Amino acid sequence: MAEANVAGNEEELKPYLVVDVKEMSKRADALRAQGKRIGLVPTMGALHLGHLSLAIAAKNECDVVIVSDFVNPTQFAPGEDYDKYPRTLDADLTLLSQIGADYVFAPKPSDMYPDGFDAKVHIGGVSQLLEGEFRPTHFDGVATVVLKLFNISRANVAYFGQKDYQQVQVVQKMVDDLNVPTTIEMLPIIREPDGLAMSSRNQYLSSEERKEALVLNEALAEAETLIRGGERDANVIYAAMRAIIERAPSAKIDYMHIGDPKSLLPLERVAGNVVVLLAVRIGATRLIDNRIVER
Ligand code: PAJ
Repeated sequence: MAEANVAGNEEELKPYLVVDVKEMSKRADALRAQGKRIGLVPTMGALHLGHLSLAIAAKNECDVVIVSDFVNPTQFAPGEDYDKYPRTLDADLTLLSQIGADYVFAPKPSDMYPDGFDAKVHIGGVSQLLEGEFRPTHFDGVATVVLKLFNISRANVAYFGQKDYQQVQVVQKMVDDLNVPTTIEMLPIIREPDGLAMSSRNQYLSSEERKEALVLNEALAEAETLIRGGERDANVIYAAMRAIIERAPSAKIDYMHIGDPKSLLPLERVAGNVVVLLAVRIGATRLIDNRIVER
């Protein structure tokens, strides 16, 4: 258990906050030397139940839980929402204290990317489609920071949400291709009661847009219903999804995609297990969602 959880006021139990990269590595080394199984939950903070579900799984399966809380500049392109991305470290610490996370690692960008930093992890194939087409530098930034976080935290297991399905496939490919000694676990999408996938970006939505945003989950539900009903033609499914999304006046579709669950390569005809993925802009806010249809 981390020091901050041992001493002090019982009502103020906080995970131990580490901001220094070297200190995090040193502590992780010591924990591994004691034979502890370390679970890492990489996040950009602004935590909600989706993030917490990952930390709870880590808590159940590992001896030590490290949650990283770092808005990673290298995965945002110029003009994206890096500056306005919500930063709520105090609230995050309170939430994480409630589930018994041991460490929160919240480094400064200048400590993660000091002057002269000159590395980039590029994963081909699965990172090139979909989000990779709309955000061409995004997955290099994600793969680079995730590998750094794995190394700094000495994670035995790292927990990711299905919410960012393509991200999980990119990270898994990195682990496979580069023999990274960390096991990846993917956990289900946590949704609001009305079906909207939880996301730190949902807070950008106006109340009208918040209602319109329901079309993402509705379109995915329709796709699943059609597939389970025997529809095999992807174009027929896309047309039905589009009709639902177009009910939202401010919705603009970036992509609708039915793909192989691992490679994400597009399928013109549905065969076996598939994943249906969506990116839709509601006004100025870009939302993603997906559904695995297993048969
Ligand atoms: P972030 O968007 O903060 O998400 C952190 C983790 O929480 C990701 O694995 C994401 O898939 C998961 N998550 C988000 N919303 C979820 C939901 N509604 N249900 C279940 N899981 C959910 O993804 C990132 O940060 C970054 O790219 C990161 C991996 C931390 C690298 O910077």
